Amino acid sequence: MSADIDAVLEVDTRVDLAGIALRNPVLAASGTFGYGSEFAPFLDLRKIGGFVAKSLTLEPRVGNPPPRIAEAASGLLNSISLENVGVEAFIHEKLPAIPEGVVVVTSAFETEIDRYAEVCRRLTGVPRIAGIEINASCPHVKSGGIEFGQDPQVLRQLVRSVRRATTLPLLVKLSPNVTSIAEMARVCEGEGADGLSLINAVQALEVDVERRRPVLANGLGGLSGPAIRPIALRMVWQAAEAVKIPICGIGGIDSAQDAVKFLLCGASAVQVGTRNYLNPSAAQEIAEGMQAWAKGRGITRLADLVGTLEMPRR
Ligand SMILES: Cc1cc2nc3c(=O)[nH]c(=O)nc-3n(C[C@H](O)[C@H](O)[C@H](O)COP(=O)(O)O)c2cc1C
Repeated sequence: MSADIDAVLEVDTRVDLAGIALRNPVLAASGTFGYGSEFAPFLDLRKIGGFVAKSLTLEPRVGNPPPRIAEAASGLLNSISLENVGVEAFIHEKLPAIPEGVVVVTSAFETEIDRYAEVCRRLTGVPRIAGIEINASCPHVKSGGIEFGQDPQVLRQLVRSVRRATTLPLLVKLSPNVTSIAEMARVCEGEGADGLSLINAVQALEVDVERRRPVLANGLGGLSGPAIRPIALRMVWQAAEAVKIPICGIGGIDSAQDAVKFLLCGASAVQVGTRNYLNPSAAQEIAEGMQAWAKGRGITRLADLVGTLEMPRR
């Protein structure tokens, strides 16, 4: 009898994110979770939905000089840039270290469209890789350094090219540094992206008044953490209104309730980023917390929450 009641109250946490089957909607975000196995001592990688590995380029890269990370009010400023082991070292050295049963999403990052496509080609067909997330926040060398995700025409070409290069589920991670996120979302949907991830870090500047210099050696950086959460929620809601493909919500998620907010705004899944630095077990705690939150309210399926925000209509 009591077993029956428990079964009835069990919360279905499963999610289909753009063709990637997840046991729950919580992934760890690219660049904040290394290549996955670094976090194995702190959480059970099989108890989270999965993780997105650090963005990969064709060749290994060292990134920007320090200081490239600084605290900000309710957030973090970083200019790590392109640092990564390169796509081949990921496939041959990092991937085999990840325990079986863990959902691995890879992330591609490059300075030219053909190079993005080549990274995707190399990741395609590799066992264990569940999907590719395209990091569209990289400066495009041929457009004078503007981010791929900031110009709808450049973004269109990028998504068209990477779509042709892979049969894996394809998520496009959008830059928040745009006027209309809805337009960018529609461009990706029109070119065959299976889903969207948003948002990446918000372009920002912090200043050392005594030295009269930026605090980061690079000058500008990306702001992440709770400071950007309301911006991210707004953009997820606007993107969800604009397209039918699923959305993975990212930006300042610190708790299960924060994650639920993204589902209400239309995200099918979420990613936890900066919080991993403060608490490396955060993603699992948030996944379990969402289940407990739903159970406490008699909600039997997390997916039923998606897009149920009651927004006032004018
Ligand atoms: C130190 C650091 C490195 C990051 N590196 C990447 C990266 O390699 N690729 C990427 O797509 N996003 C990267 N991001 C952005 C995060 O994945 C995420 O989109 C952003 O930080 C917002 O989420 P959060 O507020 O939960 O951190 C990085 C963020 C931080 C803080």
